[in-house]
Amino acid sequence: MQKNEADMQEDFRQAMRRIASTVSIITAEYEGIQLGMTATSVTCVSFEPVSMLVCVHQNSKFYEVMSNSESFCINILHHSQQSISNDFSNPGKGNNQFTHKDWVTKDGPPHLENAQANLFARLEKTVTFGTHGIFMGIVTDLRYIDDIAPLLYANGAYAKTMPVI
Ligand SMILES: Cc1cc2nc3c(=O)[nH]c(=O)nc-3n(C[C@H](O)[C@H](O)[C@H](O)COP(=O)(O)O)c2cc1C
Repeated sequence: MQKNEADMQEDFRQAMRRIASTVSIITAEYEGIQLGMTATSVTCVSFEPVSMLVCVHQNSKFYEVMSNSESFCINILHHSQQSISNDFSNPGKGNNQFTHKDWVTKDGPPHLENAQANLFARLEKTVTFGTHGIFMGIVTDLRYIDDIAPLLYANGAYAKTMPVI
């Protein structure tokens, strides 16, 4: 027998808990308003051109800024930056998100010094599907640090990588 929609969604949620994803903060700017959002739905699209995509819920405050901005920045977090992830996944935080000293908010989408990597992208294409907007961008500049130790999210909790011996 086929599952009903509610059972399917619950099973889907359980299946998704089994994906370990790297946590990033996506930032954008529109009409002087700088905003960011914690996201795990961040994917490399292609090397030709060098491009990335991010999925953003259409009900989030960030969606409006992201869909109107010309560019965005993907800040891939280090496992020591869990508190910054909390700053950007809390809808109550509003415009007080960029309180950590490592944020550079001069012009354009803010970027986080000491993140694993900062990928600056020009927004090229947006598609909506279901509840989300899928934003595709061409990477125009990037920086990274040498220490590869990303902040992960799996089974509803933060985690870090461990070598398999
Ligand atoms: C680890 C983690 C990953 C998340 N990934 C996404 C994501 O990929 N896309 C998304 O739309 N929301 C994601 N969220 C939820 C948003 O960060 C959250 O809804 C945020 O409060 C939206 O804020 P806003 O409505 O103030 O813009 C994630 C939250 C957490 C904690």
